[in-house]
Amino acid sequence: MYPTVLLLHSWTRWLVVVFGLIALFRAFGGWQGRRPWAGADNGMGAAFVGSMHLQLLLGLLLYFGLSPLGLKAMENGMGAAMKDPQLRFWGVEHIITMVLAVVAAQVGRSLSKRATDPVLKHKKAFIWFAIALVLVLLMIPWGIWNPARPLFRV
Ligand code: HEM
Repeated sequence: MYPTVLLLHSWTRWLVVVFGLIALFRAFGGWQGRRPWAGADNGMGAAFVGSMHLQLLLGLLLYFGLSPLGLKAMENGMGAAMKDPQLRFWGVEHIITMVLAVVAAQVGRSLSKRATDPVLKHKKAFIWFAIALVLVLLMIPWGIWNPARPLFRV
């Protein structure tokens, strides 16, 4: 179960990144080009937010149950885990930032759906999706300043 969920969580990252980039570029082009709000804008926003929710669900399974780097790593107390940069990254930094990113993506989708003016729809989607994507890109373990993990886990 643990390897399967980790594998899924690892690959769903690419859905999040690809859908996020497409949704962001569509929103930027729509906003600057004053383009009408199209079905594909709505669809890409839904795909981005949907992939984020899936990732959140898989992450919660890892954190609360399956992963030795989640709650299990806090068995010796939160203080001890905080002193270890790896445990702090997985147990605190990764999850808090990613949850905030999910909230930002959801806010962007809700606000852009609610707005009536098409340019405003694109603008709201762009701002909030940009915040979400920056947070995601910062906290994916690329190995630059955070732990290194395989880009394509097998
Ligand atoms: C929503 C955006 C998220 C993205 C893009 C993301 C991405 C990733 C990636 C790429 C890994 C490394 C997987 C591997 O080793 O192949 C990882 C690990 C992990 N993620 Fe996330 N994650 C997200 C959200 C979350 C959330 C919300 C949680 C917890 C509630 C979470 C918990 C974890 C845990 C505990 C690990 C380490 C698992 C282990 O090695 O045992 N993630 N994440």
